[in-house]
Amino acid sequence: MSQYFSEENSVETVNARMGPATDPRVAEVMTCLVKHLHAFAKEINLTQAEWEFGIDFLTKVGKICSDERQEFILLSDTLGLSMLVDAINNRRPSGATENTVLGPFHVANAPVRQMGDVITLDGKGETCLFEGMVTDLDGNPVAGATIDVWSDNADGFYDVQQPGIQPKWNNRGIFVTGEDGRYSFIGIKPVSYPIPDDGPVGKMLEHLGRHPYRPAHMHYIVTAPGFQTVVTHTFVGDDQYISSDAVFGVKDTLVAPFEKAPNGPAVWRSPFNFKLNAA
Ligand SMILES: [Fe+2]
Repeated sequence: MSQYFSEENSVETVNARMGPATDPRVAEVMTCLVKHLHAFAKEINLTQAEWEFGIDFLTKVGKICSDERQEFILLSDTLGLSMLVDAINNRRPSGATENTVLGPFHVANAPVRQMGDVITLDGKGETCLFEGMVTDLDGNPVAGATIDVWSDNADGFYDVQQPGIQPKWNNRGIFVTGEDGRYSFIGIKPVSYPIPDDGPVGKMLEHLGRHPYRPAHMHYIVTAPGFQTVVTHTFVGDDQYISSDAVFGVKDTLVAPFEKAPNGPAVWRSPFNFKLNAA
């Protein structure tokens, strides 16, 4: 084999250049990345113009990023990479509540509220009682579990997207289970919303004939001592985007019932139990 670069030996030539003191995991990751990147270019016979288009696209993705906007994560989300990494890193026994993407709108240290409290501060939307139990895999209640919840408002925006328009901590709260493992709070039946689509990722979706919407969902982070943390959503099953989530976050087990509740404290009721597996 020639020591110089050729189409045939491209992968080996590039990877052979790596120094012997390279961190083993970095070496493993980069070797594999070069292998698949070159295979990709060879398989599709990447043209010079397409290569330039790709460089230009990634440059635009970088340039629109700011402290408030992370277009690369959006790119990862819409290509399914974020969900794949989440799946690889959160393999759980069947029956345990599944993870899904965290999303960009979580804010730490939301107000701790009492069970049954209302988290909707702007008075908009159709009220919904969310309730259920946190248990271990055998169904025993988990006491002292922290349930951090957040959703969009009835207009499809999170409070942090509309500072000065929505009250701070609108549709957010933290609840801590007692001995019975039960939780309950009143929010709204969430609504579907588009991911930010005014940048290069939005253009990409448009070119691919894809819409930017996420089906309506309530976000949860459930933590309890001795158990694996669950970062997840529950989804509204009859949402028009349930089968085409722009970021691929939907899983069968995360589609929750949303039932009209004429005699309840809210217009809707959504029961859902969280099953945690031991850490
Ligand atoms: Fe969300």
